[in-house]
Amino acid sequence: MLVGGQGTRLRPLTLFTPKPLLPTAGVPFLAHQLAKAHAYGVRRIVFATSYRASMFADAFGDGSAFGLEIVYVTEDSPLGTGGAIRNAAKALKSPPDAPVLVLNGDILSGHDIAAQVALHRSRGAAVTLHLTEVADPSRFGCVPTDREGRVTAFLEKTLNPVTNRINAGCYVFQRSVIDSIPDGEVVSVERETFPGLIEAGAPVLGYADSTYWLDVGTPAAFVQGSRDLVLGRLESPALPGPVGESLLLSGATVSPEAKVSGGTVVGARAVVESGALVRGSVLADDCAVATGAIVEDSVVGIGARIDPGAVLRDVVIGDRAVVGSGNELAAGARVWPDVALPECSVRFSSDI
Ligand code: GDD
Ligand code: MG
Repeated sequence: MLVGGQGTRLRPLTLFTPKPLLPTAGVPFLAHQLAKAHAYGVRRIVFATSYRASMFADAFGDGSAFGLEIVYVTEDSPLGTGGAIRNAAKALKSPPDAPVLVLNGDILSGHDIAAQVALHRSRGAAVTLHLTEVADPSRFGCVPTDREGRVTAFLEKTLNPVTNRINAGCYVFQRSVIDSIPDGEVVSVERETFPGLIEAGAPVLGYADSTYWLDVGTPAAFVQGSRDLVLGRLESPALPGPVGESLLLSGATVSPEAKVSGGTVVGARAVVESGALVRGSVLADDCAVATGAIVEDSVVGIGARIDPGAVLRDVVIGDRAVVGSGNELAAGARVWPDVALPECSVRFSSDI
């Protein structure tokens, strides 16, 4: 499981919490992926960590609470996707000819892992990539295949995508292929390993389907993922409550005169006052939405306060920030947290 990225596109949400641990439909994001992997039959997972590594063990421990054995392998400095897979493989117990499931840690997917593994085995592939179709493939790894499903090229974030079919971030690798990635070096599977394998004529396959799929790497996608899980558009065994218009976590208070809908999560001890309208949003723990405020398709951080009549659409409010009465925030706005920032964080405008 690749969980070492910095989640820059999700700042300020990821200043203190790595992307895979952001609360999503009431639980850390990864809990949904772990539950899916467990349902398929996975029992042992190696986390390839880097950014804020210790927080993963704090959240998931040895994995026993999830019916899993979780092992953590941390990079001293980020090794990229390929380097991270190679490094984490040191903790694998499988033999060279065994298939190893590798997942990006920011994906929600409804695809059938068993069918992907079965295809990999039956065709004797070196690597089998889950593929999906998106409207804008330029933001992803563009993956053309031939009629037999064999991958003919891997074009990471190309300006001229040749197909809408993209790498969906779930791979089955032969263990021996992982072991052939150079050890201790920064390597990208997308830019080096996959193109290299294809060039060398190794059997790289695509498992294409059209089930639910989402990369939660941007604020809009993150909110959408949470909303879809709460509404039941994607089933998750990790959802901590029934599917519905809203999910109220323990101690949340919603006035009977407030309207909370569209798959909104109301965090623990959060308060939504009368006349407030909250739709399709993530309200984190201990935040407050005051009378008459409107919050749509937005994230309101931990302990943040939205004062009476404020209007938020498609925005991110950092932890403990305050949006004063009557303010109206336009789509894409990000209000940074009202707390000391960690030393490593710098506000690059290109990140947002
Ligand atoms: N351990 C470790 N070390 N993990 C890393 C590192 C690293 O140096 N760099 C990235 N990761 C992890 C991230 O945490 C994430 O879970 C995963 O690798 C993918 O990184 P992203 O930063 O989310 O990449 P992306 O979304 O731009 O593109 C990737 O995913 C797309 C599908 O969502 C690529 O694999 C694309 O080809 C693909 O289409
Ligand atoms: Mg991603």
